Amino acid sequence: SAAEKDGYDYFMLKEIAEQPKAVADTLLGRIDPSGSLTLDELRITPADLRQIDKVVIVACGTAFHAGLIAKYAIEHWTRIPCEVELASEFRYRDPILGGRSLVIAISQSGETMDTLMALRHAREQGSKVLAICNTNGSTIPRESDAVLYTHAGPEVAVASTKAFLTQLVACYLVALYLCQVRGTKWGDEIQAVIKDLSRISDEVERVLETMEPVRALARTLAGKDTVLFLGRHVGYPVALEGALKLKELAYMHAEGFAAGELKHGPIALIEEDMPVVVVVPSPSNRSLLHDKIVSNIQEIRARGARTIVIAEEGDEAVVPYADHLIRIPVTPTLLQPVVATVPLQVFACELAAARGNEVDQPRNLAKSVTVE
Ligand code: AGP
Repeated sequence: SAAEKDGYDYFMLKEIAEQPKAVADTLLGRIDPSGSLTLDELRITPADLRQIDKVVIVACGTAFHAGLIAKYAIEHWTRIPCEVELASEFRYRDPILGGRSLVIAISQSGETMDTLMALRHAREQGSKVLAICNTNGSTIPRESDAVLYTHAGPEVAVASTKAFLTQLVACYLVALYLCQVRGTKWGDEIQAVIKDLSRISDEVERVLETMEPVRALARTLAGKDTVLFLGRHVGYPVALEGALKLKELAYMHAEGFAAGELKHGPIALIEEDMPVVVVVPSPSNRSLLHDKIVSNIQEIRARGARTIVIAEEGDEAVVPYADHLIRIPVTPTLLQPVVATVPLQVFACELAAARGNEVDQPRNLAKSVTVE
């Protein structure tokens, strides 16, 4: 009913708007004022976490994209090798696991059959499984060794939004906690990241306040057939997530690419006036990466693409090549997906509505996929 939607037209819009709170609730009580993490709720002992020699993340759909982003953070901060795999592929290829592997299963519903089967397979191999889950007492956390709950609250819309942002936050917390218990690299960078992470819900709020032009742009693109999404580094999984949202909601052909792969094939797809959304990494860090993506934007624009550029405030280098510019706040590189994903959610939601689609209940989809 309208009351349940708090005055929003769709649950999805309500859930997008709830993201600052969802993020704040997921952080609540887990970072103490001195900047250290309290994750005693994890039932894996620090001694066991010190033994870990490999992290394997399994998940499906949007949760898989959270896992792809987590890999960058886990490997950079903890230096523990990390693999991310679609849960539906995992157990069918005889993965190499053992007692020192930590398997992280990410799931909003906690009932996704592919993810459940993957974690059962991992436990049979003697690995410890940590669930990152939004649903209290659901099957995936019940069958895991440990659980870190996301506190997004109930997510009703089939398309995942606030659960995704809280999955990212939970992954960052796990990565930072691994650093803490293992005594790895607890330097200035980590301290700064923790500080920025504890403020990130305000940044999400700021992004939400600037979404009107994104809505207006989406409406003008309702007649398009294809939208491409490009990103690099953590912006690459963000591009995949933007494309998934558009597929499931707008029923449009949408694809996400690593921008560096363009010249290896996908650039052939570019046609006159084809919308291409580009997620631009911060110019302050990894400046080479930033320069490279600016050249990618130039290349596609020279071939006729209509460029929709998501870039940090103050990034002036992109201005000449952006047909549409969407600003996001300055964040540390690894946290950027938390803010960069929000405009893509709004974009997909508005396009779906403009095309007359059922936003909260897209055709052919179920909120939780309980069959393999
Ligand atoms: C997200 O928008 C999708 N509806 C879907 O990809 C979802 O993320 C996937 O099915 C996994 O669900 P889960 O998080 O409940 O395990």
